[in-house]
Amino acid sequence: MKSLRVAMLGCGVVGSEVAARILGHGEELAARIGAPLELAAVAVRDASKARPGVPSELLTTDAAAAIEGADIVIELIGGIEPARELILSALRSGASVVTANKALLASHYGELMKAADAAEVRLEHEAAVAGAIPIIRPVGNSLAGDRITRVMGIVNGTTNYILDQMDSEGWDFDTALRTAQELGYAEADPTADLGGHDAAAKAAILASIAFHTPVTIDDVSVEGITEVSADMVETARAQGFTIKLLAICEELSDSPEGPGVSARVYPALLPREHVLASVGGAFNAVFIEAEAAGELMFYGQGAGGAPTSSAVLGDVVSVARRKVLGGRGQYERRLTTRLPVLPISAITTRYQITLDVFDRPGVLSRIAEVFAEEGVSIELVQQTQIEDEPAGTPQRAKLVIATHAGIDAALRRTVDRLAELEAVNALSSVLRIEGH
Ligand code: NDP
Ligand code: HSE
Repeated sequence: MKSLRVAMLGCGVVGSEVAARILGHGEELAARIGAPLELAAVAVRDASKARPGVPSELLTTDAAAAIEGADIVIELIGGIEPARELILSALRSGASVVTANKALLASHYGELMKAADAAEVRLEHEAAVAGAIPIIRPVGNSLAGDRITRVMGIVNGTTNYILDQMDSEGWDFDTALRTAQELGYAEADPTADLGGHDAAAKAAILASIAFHTPVTIDDVSVEGITEVSADMVETARAQGFTIKLLAICEELSDSPEGPGVSARVYPALLPREHVLASVGGAFNAVFIEAEAAGELMFYGQGAGGAPTSSAVLGDVVSVARRKVLGGRGQYERRLTTRLPVLPISAITTRYQITLDVFDRPGVLSRIAEVFAEEGVSIELVQQTQIEDEPAGTPQRAKLVIATHAGIDAALRRTVDRLAELEAVNALSSVLRIEGH
């Protein structure tokens, strides 16, 4: 059987693991595909760097030349350019492409899929969301006959690792981040992880596929974890919550702005007994609610070279089988609807607001008045004295207020007005509560 030529672009954390498996498990892969894979070229930035297990004659710095004559191109460079141009060129030349590049897919999905359609080849990207976890195929294929209503996931390993270490080990933020980088979870520039943009890219991809409508990273409302302090983690723990960076995608039929989809990323309080609360380390999990299937949970390693290589190789086997069978196969992930993307102000959620207030008569009633005027219902108020104030300064108290569910715009207005009250010394933190 004629072998299939594979060109790999990028040989870093993920690429080196993919190369090791293509080179080391050749016979097994050939048996599953029906033809052997021939790793013909590996494009990198620096061809002189030692790459254990990768024959030096395969290495090249000329990515465009590496693509020529390839049946399958695996893009593991990351970022927008030159990855976008290289993928388009590979598709136009008739190669099927496998990529893990969520940043690119979250901004150029339509363009890339159109190029794959035009060339009648496949573009697969299981590894772009939640590393090793099979999630793109289940959402795009297995649930294609159902109606997904909500997707809520922990889809960034770095931030989950940091928040988990802060919660379970009491580590400070910087130590946890440094270790996440050493373990290969964090992106080269960790601001994409910490600022929530990596999770937002994954939310855009998930929302597009789950709701069959184009959602780009620019449509996703994003808050990262840089404001999450050890104190907030401790307060959450004491109240039976844990803080997780959540990506939430839902279809809303009755928002104040009308029907549409919402895609958002923010750190939220989850009850410690919630199924996502026990997702520790760099693990990812995605919780799906669908009309007929009900609740589904997907869990596994969301980052790291070896786990991610599993998803990449699954796609390689899949596109290689199509090459052997001939034809492109039925394409499942079509964005056939055009739903409006709703602003975060239109979603329904709950807030936990922590205030530092002056402890004197009438303060609580003034605060309650603001909630009443905004139509926001309070579920719980907890007050503790702030003890370590110097003698002679006004007594202060920490007020933690949890709301019932309300429209985000009203909750936000309430917070803004509370911050302006003369009785409020400081707005200590605001977190949404999910999973109730
Ligand atoms: P790395 O930074 O470890 O590797 C990038 C590779 O691309 C390096 O080998 C680099 O070469 C090469 N490269 C960069 N620019 C060029 C260029 N212009 N031409 C040719 N080669 C180039 O990234 P990762 O392996 O971590 O990530 C790869 C992709 O996988 C990204 O899209 C990432 O978002 C995604 N991903 C990563 C996960 C992870 O856990 N790391 C998990 C899921 C997805 P050189 O080695 O010479 O510098
Ligand atoms: N930096 C990403 C993370 C890698 O921490 O989840 C996986 O996409």
